[in-house]
Amino acid sequence: MRTVSTVAEMQATCREIRRSGKSLGFVPTMGALHEGHLSLVRAARSHNQVVAASIFVNPLQFGPTEDFSKYPRTMERDKQLLETEKVDLLFAPPPDEMYPHGAVTTVYVADLSEKLDGQSRPGHFKGVTTVVAKLFEIVRPDRAYFGQKDAAQVAVLRKMVHDLNMDVEVIVCPIVRERDGLAMSSRNAYLSAEQRKQALVLNRSLMRVQALADRGEKRAAVLRDAGEQVIAEEPGARLDYFAIVDVNTLDPVEDISKGALVAVAAYVGTTRLIDNLVLHGPGQARQVIQR
Ligand code: PAJ
Repeated sequence: MRTVSTVAEMQATCREIRRSGKSLGFVPTMGALHEGHLSLVRAARSHNQVVAASIFVNPLQFGPTEDFSKYPRTMERDKQLLETEKVDLLFAPPPDEMYPHGAVTTVYVADLSEKLDGQSRPGHFKGVTTVVAKLFEIVRPDRAYFGQKDAAQVAVLRKMVHDLNMDVEVIVCPIVRERDGLAMSSRNAYLSAEQRKQALVLNRSLMRVQALADRGEKRAAVLRDAGEQVIAEEPGARLDYFAIVDVNTLDPVEDISKGALVAVAAYVGTTRLIDNLVLHGPGQARQVIQR
């Protein structure tokens, strides 16, 4: 695996790959890699002749009181993992390479960027779309891989790609979970042993909604109340939002007959965790939950 830290070298390398006619898959990450990230890498490896990944803890997507400085950074271990997964190219730029002094241009998906996590984390999605647009421009991949774990991020990025006619196929991979159901996240590293158990409440609230939906409950308000109730029963967790929305517009739905995204965000201690579940409408395949 070749590691590149400058924009110019990454652009030149990716240009060569395109010229050789090889398909290029790209997996953007912020590092502290786990099986969730690696599932994206494996999908990219199976679809493309060349696989590039990036590790960049993007300052633009963190709020002033958020965890940018303490976000886990495990570069040597991450490199070994990517090497094992046969990644060809790693882009790991320093912050001033991505945002040199004087850079003022941003990419902003209006409306969608203010929903769900965007509402709780002002400016977050503007940071995400700006960095992903820049990464796409640097790498120009045929396909880019994202996780359903960040469902609102997927909706915002799909809209950006559509609205700006970006010539990249966005591929979304299922949520990878720990054996007990906790969605894998780099932020799980912040949790104490006790908080780790409390964090299971997010998945439990989604399972409750799934069970009620399986029994025929269609009213979003009833499903949401049931999910919120599960979170309220765990004193170690503080709810940020519990939302039942359209998968693409992220607007609340009144009933789930045509399918819906059930998304939850909660604080366990000071750690903000998210999880979600896609309820499918008639004739739609059900999400494959791994493990
Ligand atoms: P990061 O949190 O490192 O996640 C990188 C990718 O891995 C995202 O597409 C995320 O949805 C996916 N991912 C994380 N946990 C997952 C899990 N348990 N199962 C499946 N996929 C999972 O998301 C970001 O970084 C950043 O916002 C980024 C897109 C890189 C822009 O800075």
